Amino acid sequence: MLVTGGAGFIGANFVHHTLRHHPRYRVRVLDALTYAGDERALAPVAGRIEFVRGDVCDARLVDELVAASDVVVHFAAESHVDNSLDDPSPFVRTNVQGTFTVLEAVRRHDRRLHHVSTDEVFGDLGADGGGRFTETSRYDPSSPYSATKAASDLLVRAWVRSYGVRATVSNCANNYGPFQHVEKFVPRQVTNLLLGRPAKLFGTGENVREWTHVDDHNAAVHLILDRGRIGESYLIGSGGERSNREVLDLLLELMDRPPGSYEHVPDRPGHDLRYAADCTKLRTELGWRPRFPDLRAGLAETVAWYRDNEWWWKPAKERTEERYRRLGR
Ligand code: NAD
Ligand code: DAU
Repeated sequence: MLVTGGAGFIGANFVHHTLRHHPRYRVRVLDALTYAGDERALAPVAGRIEFVRGDVCDARLVDELVAASDVVVHFAAESHVDNSLDDPSPFVRTNVQGTFTVLEAVRRHDRRLHHVSTDEVFGDLGADGGGRFTETSRYDPSSPYSATKAASDLLVRAWVRSYGVRATVSNCANNYGPFQHVEKFVPRQVTNLLLGRPAKLFGTGENVREWTHVDDHNAAVHLILDRGRIGESYLIGSGGERSNREVLDLLLELMDRPPGSYEHVPDRPGHDLRYAADCTKLRTELGWRPRFPDLRAGLAETVAWYRDNEWWWKPAKERTEERYRRLGR
C-alpha cells in the first residue's frame, strides 16, 4: 500500500491504524515533509514501514512507487483554509497537479486508488439551520483550499469514467485527534490553554462543524477500500454537530478553565457557517459506526494526548502563532 501524505495528521494516524488492524498490508509512505509533515509522527512504526521523502507532483517518482504498489491511498494535500487564503499557489499545485500525477500513474499501472477529500467541496449550508450534504449535493466550494479539493475530486471522477480507473472518493467532516498540526482549531486552543494563553475564536464562533475522530475517519477509509463500489463517493461524519463556541466551552471545561475565557479575533474571510453530512450511504452500505460518537470522550482523550506530547507540538507552535499574528487572527 502506498500512502501519500502519510507524515501528516490523518495520514500518519492511517498508517498506525493500518498496521494495527490490517497487518496484511506492507506500507510505504510518500511525503514531502512540508511544514505540515512530521516524520516523528511515524517514529513508533519506523521499522515496519518504508518512508520516501518526495513530492507527489514528481511524476517519475510517483510512477515508480505506484508501479510497486497494489493500492494507493492519497492523503497528500495542502490542508489549511487560512493558509490557502494567504497564498493559494501551493494548494493548486499539490491538490490539483498532485492528484493528476497520482491519477496518471494509477491509470498506467491499473492500480486501486482511494482519494481522500473533504465535505468542504459542497460549500456552506448557511444560516437556515437545515439540511445536510449528501453524495449527490452540488459542488460549491468557498475557499481556495476547498476549490482545489473539489477540482481533485472531479479529476478522479473523470478518470474513473473515461479511463476506467479503479478509484473511490471519501468526503470527510472536520477531524480531531493526536498528531494534528497546531494551526487547526482544536490543537490551537488546547495548546494555547496548556501554555496559559487565551483561546482564539474567529468572529462570533457560531460556525458549525461535524467533529469526527481521526480513527473513525480512517476506519471508514478501510471499509471503502475493502467493500466500497468503484467510482462512488462516500461522505464521512460522526453526526456530532457543534458550534465553535460550544467546542471551546467543552475544551475549557475539560481543562478546568472558566467558561467564556477566550478572545474573539477577526473572522476568516468567506468563512463557511455550517457543514453537516448525511452518512446514510456509508452506514447502510458498509456498516460504518463511529467508535467516538461522544465528542466529550474523544476530546478528553485528545487533550490528554497534547498534554503528554509537548515534544511533538511545541516546535511548530511559535511559528504558527507568528503566522496567525501576521494574518491578524
Ligand atoms: P496535513 O496538512 O496534516 O498533512 C498533509 C501531508 O501532506 C503532510 O505530511 C505534508 O507534508 C504532505 N504534503 C503536502 N504537500 C505535499 C506534496 N507536494 N508532496 C507530498 N506530500 C505532501 O493534512 P491532514 O489534515 O492530515 O489532511 C489529509 C487529507 O485529508 C487532505 O487531503 C485533506 O484535504 C483531507 N481532509 C482533512 C480533514 C481534516 O479535518 N483535517 C477532513 C477531511 C479531509
Ligand atoms: O470540513 C473538513 C475540513 O476541516 C478539512 O477539509 C480541512 O482540511 C480542515 O482544516 C478543516 O477545515 P476548517 O476550516 O473547518 O478547520 P479549522 O480547524 O481551520 O477551523 C475549524 C473552525 O474553527 C472554523 O470554523 C474556523 C474556526 N477557528 C479556527 C482556528 C484555527 C477559530 O475559531 N479559531 C481558530 O484559532
